Amino acid sequence: MADDDHIEAVLARLSRPQKLALVRGATDPEGTATGYLSGVKEAGIPPFRLVDGPLGIRAEGQRATAFPASIATAATFDPDLARQQGAAMGREAAALGQDALLAPGVNIIRVPHCGRNFEYLSEDPVHAGAVGAGLIDGIQSADVVATVKHFVANNQETHRTTVSTEVDERTLRELYLPPFRSAVDAGVGSVMTAYNRVNGTHMSDHGRLVGDVLKGEWGFDGYVVSDWYGIESTVGAANAGMDVEMPGVAAPGAAEAANSDTADDAEEFEWPDGIPDATRAGLFGDPLVEAIDSGEVPAERLDDMVRRVLGQMDRFGRLDGSRTAAEDGASDDQAGELDSQRHRDIAADVAARGTVLLDNDGVLPLADGADVAVIGPNIDEPKLGGGGSSETTPVHSVTPVAGIESRAEGAVTTAFGVPQIASVSLFDLLPFVGEDDDTDGTAADIAQQDPSLDDAVDAAAAADVAVVFVRDATTEARDRDSLALPGQQDDLVSAVAAANENTVVVVRSGGPVELPWREDVAAVLEQWYPGQADGDAAAAVLYGDRDPSGRLPVTFAPEGEFPTAGAERRYPGVDDEVHYDEGVFIGYRHFDDEDADPTYPFGHGHSYATFEYGDAETTGERTVAVTVKNAADRPGREVIQAYVRPPSVDGVDRPRRELAGFEAVQLDADEQKTVALTLDDLAFSRYDPNSGWTVDTGTYTVEIGRSSRDIRTTVPVDR
Ligand code: BGC
Repeated sequence: MADDDHIEAVLARLSRPQKLALVRGATDPEGTATGYLSGVKEAGIPPFRLVDGPLGIRAEGQRATAFPASIATAATFDPDLARQQGAAMGREAAALGQDALLAPGVNIIRVPHCGRNFEYLSEDPVHAGAVGAGLIDGIQSADVVATVKHFVANNQETHRTTVSTEVDERTLRELYLPPFRSAVDAGVGSVMTAYNRVNGTHMSDHGRLVGDVLKGEWGFDGYVVSDWYGIESTVGAANAGMDVEMPGVAAPGAAEAANSDTADDAEEFEWPDGIPDATRAGLFGDPLVEAIDSGEVPAERLDDMVRRVLGQMDRFGRLDGSRTAAEDGASDDQAGELDSQRHRDIAADVAARGTVLLDNDGVLPLADGADVAVIGPNIDEPKLGGGGSSETTPVHSVTPVAGIESRAEGAVTTAFGVPQIASVSLFDLLPFVGEDDDTDGTAADIAQQDPSLDDAVDAAAAADVAVVFVRDATTEARDRDSLALPGQQDDLVSAVAAANENTVVVVRSGGPVELPWREDVAAVLEQWYPGQADGDAAAAVLYGDRDPSGRLPVTFAPEGEFPTAGAERRYPGVDDEVHYDEGVFIGYRHFDDEDADPTYPFGHGHSYATFEYGDAETTGERTVAVTVKNAADRPGREVIQAYVRPPSVDGVDRPRRELAGFEAVQLDADEQKTVALTLDDLAFSRYDPNSGWTVDTGTYTVEIGRSSRDIRTTVPVDR
């Protein structure tokens, strides 16, 4: 815990230039950090390093464990596993000399096309909040500050640096703010503001949301950091409640790139869409001094910024050297640790548990001795993640082919079938980053032999089972232009399915994709971006060594059926405004409201086991209990989900059901357990713009089941 007197004593000794060194980023002399505060040596304040996140540690020039994409972690519906992943990431950040991790990202998945959905958690705020809190708790258990991002209503990459999210207060309160609120309740040390505007005001300048709501109402006492080059104005940001400017210095080469581009045509340089102006830096340097001197920013504001930064440094042992002692082994969870076996195991565990079995006609799990054709354009490369600031380079990784070859007892043949799918990356969009001649050994760097569809069909026809790996390619700073799988992959699946009735498709995607051939294949697995454990995790689930216990954190449906489809105002916006006209009706709330059947509903996922639900009963004000039995002859992992249906109230349009709680349980064959679910108040309340949070009097129905569309038992609850 932060020692207030100690911090006040340190603060009192600092000169103004020294204070400024704690609120404006600088260049990391060691070159590993994503963001750096130089500290104040004379005052015993060490340098402070911030590093990306959230799929592992992206310290410049360093390798680290590449965990599955955040959406895969969320698909485990297991905050405790998220905590383990967070703790491992925290230990790796510590081992790499970093002090704060720029993770987790908890923005609600509103638009299925968003290029960063893989970095986010869920279309549901209770779910995102619970998984996010697990990650935060884990990261901070390693004495590393967690940074929840991007605050708030940053739900698309198109025009992300300029667009204004036009959203009503109820929708903000019920959907988009709650995961951040959960992060604050979990004790998160830092909040990163988003690039976008909300109702016209840049988030860095948003006094109401940053100052009044986050710091005032919610009592957040950590520091608020800008997104990179994301501070809009010195006075606006300082007075709104922004505490730290990052990176504080222009990107090397950015000014030259901007100038050289304009040299010929005298027109103002335009940064590519989604890329912030990387020359924008130093707003919390001299301009802040001037603003304080002119009285536009109270001097006390600078003290408050510094106090908040020092508070987190002190809390995590950076001011008194106690963390150094911890690194020497005071506590297992506080020691730095990199690419250890246990971290590899956690990465593999999350990848396997986050795998969702969308469909299975009985072909899975595979027989050990089956002859398998492994097919797909990228079967020789692990799907580590999407592009952008979350790119993590692992020491060790397993390709799909390698994973299956090491597990299979029958023959394994391979075929690419169609041209490979190239990865896309934010870094390729940056005008000031030169051609990268480093290769990382992924398929993008491997000259691929001419793929042949015929070879794939022949391999499929000759095998007992054909396993086709398909993928999308998404990145920060760009949205997808379609939910279809890129390239010729749909043709490949159809051709293979026609040649072998035991065709299993393993999908790697950053969010919902369209699977037009799904009724022609025997089974479909969704693995998101599985990270370094890729092939091992796939094999573990395919052969039934692990139960596919992932459940969908996002609804899968045809592109045209999402609430953002067909209305440019809703997405990607008109005149730099995106209107959240659908209000709270996104994801499953939308499909319920429309009485429409999605392809796969929120919460969906089969198990290799079969579960029987007893009758639910209330056991307290906020708890319900249900007994669940594994009726199969094999172990399985079930995710028990509780939704709340509100009573109908005149003039109030509410979602038909909202997730209120969930619990993942491992059950042996024939085993049964009684599970008590804690119901989140959010599911009972609605936000009334005039009177605030409101719980309507009446009878609510708690629905308990396997997904939002597979309810097994209900129990009434009066409020
Ligand atoms: C991203 C952040 C990231 C930061 C630093 C920004 O472009 O939006 O999520 O942490 O860069 O790399």
